[in-house]
Amino acid sequence: MALTFYAASTISFIIQIVVLALLIGALILKNQKKFRQHGILMLTAVVLHLISIFVVMVPSLAAFFGSPDALSFADAYVSITAVHAFAGVISSVLGVWLVSAWHLQKDIQGCFRKKKVMDITFVLWLLSIVLGVILYLRIIQAI
Ligand code: HEM
Repeated sequence: MALTFYAASTISFIIQIVVLALLIGALILKNQKKFRQHGILMLTAVVLHLISIFVVMVPSLAAFFGSPDALSFADAYVSITAVHAFAGVISSVLGVWLVSAWHLQKDIQGCFRKKKVMDITFVLWLLSIVLGVILYLRIIQAI
């Protein structure tokens, strides 16, 4: 059964808010030097992010471009959508790399060396979520 554009966007939005909570929680754990728990929360966030991209956002985008409002929406919001999608894809590629390089090992020394990549991933991820929220608010307003 194909998801309606509105349902898909809402599910995606809810997942993004959960991911945001996980990112903030993971940062708090890092500040408490609970690095393993930080890694586990980030792993969970990466998995949820991938689910939201492949199960929800791609069908949502497809449903959207099949709708009559697509062109006017795309005109006004094309830049936000493009940056949201670009930041989302790059942060998920980097996130997958970070968590798979670690793969739940006891030894986290390798993680310390990837601090710069974590910073970049985190910033891009936040950017993607903030723009995603703006897009969602625009979508529910337009429907
Ligand atoms: C998507 C995946 C991840 C993101 C977005 C992320 C994000 C971050 C951020 C923003 C910091 C703060 C860096 C700073 O203080 O400048 C950090 C620190 C850290 N993260 Fe991650 N992280 C991720 C995955 C992991 C994984 C898989 C591990 C392995 C257990 C890990 C271990 C650490 C450690 C040890 C630090 C402290 C580094 C230091 O203070 O030198 N992270 N992470």
